[in-house]
Amino acid sequence: MNNGHSSVPSLTLTGTVQTEEDRALQEALRQRGPLPVHIAIIMDGNGRWAQQQGKHRVVGHYEGIESVRDITEACAQLGIPYLTLYTFSTENWQRPASEVNALMQLLVHTIRREKQRLLENGVRLQVVGDLDQLPAECRHELEQAIQETAQNQRLVLTLALSYSGRWEILQAVRALARRVQAGTLRPEDIDEAVFAAALPSASLPDPDLLIRTGGEFRVSNFLLWQIAYTELYITDTFWPAFRRRQLYEAIYSYQNRERRFGRIRPTDTNPPR
Ligand code: IPE
Ligand code: IPE
Ligand code: MG
Repeated sequence: MNNGHSSVPSLTLTGTVQTEEDRALQEALRQRGPLPVHIAIIMDGNGRWAQQQGKHRVVGHYEGIESVRDITEACAQLGIPYLTLYTFSTENWQRPASEVNALMQLLVHTIRREKQRLLENGVRLQVVGDLDQLPAECRHELEQAIQETAQNQRLVLTLALSYSGRWEILQAVRALARRVQAGTLRPEDIDEAVFAAALPSASLPDPDLLIRTGGEFRVSNFLLWQIAYTELYITDTFWPAFRRRQLYEAIYSYQNRERRFGRIRPTDTNPPR
């Protein structure tokens, strides 16, 4: 609690210290506004981060968890309502079994270890993806954490797991086709709102800001429908090195953008002809 002594670092609920400097940076971003409501992140570059240091790729995944923790906590403190993390793609199943297994183990251990911290930070955990593909232990751990954090309201943290944008679009298409077949929906009534409501991640607003770490200029099958008008931010920084300072830079860049959504800027007027 900050009781006016600005030189005293304030404790977050978890007991980790949020420095006054960090609080000031966050406040400056809030004042500068607007903050994105929904930030989505393609957390890429774990393997390269590790290999750069002559370490095994898995070491990068371990260090990447530290970034997940820091970014989640920073978003909660800043007042960002939605954070969605691309954690494991449909295509990632094609990696060597040893890496896939290590990632699944890491997921189980992390959820187990971080659950208390999520509760203390007011973070509600959600997942989106083809969860049937996940090992039973993983699903169990996730279900527990989802249930236990269901009442939290500060930040909705969604992990995209065994996820791809095309997978998600197909789920919506199938659901709508079933309703048409059952006679409860007419094809001509399918508009953008009806389609979006049929997506597995329908509870999330479209992302305002999509961050990709690791420097690749592609979307790798992430949130294809939802990013129609999302602002993109790509940084060469590998995910394990991406911490709250880098997040603030991304938000700062977002705040400099002019979102036109296909219109012209309100101040632009054409002279009469
Ligand atoms: C992202 O890092 C994590 C996952 C995709 C699971 P990578 O493992 O893709 O790391 P790079 O891109 O090979 O460096
Ligand atoms: C995207 O990273 C998927 C996740 C971050 C979970 P990838 O490493 O799988 O993407 P590509 O292969 O570079 O497109
Ligand atoms: Mg990668």
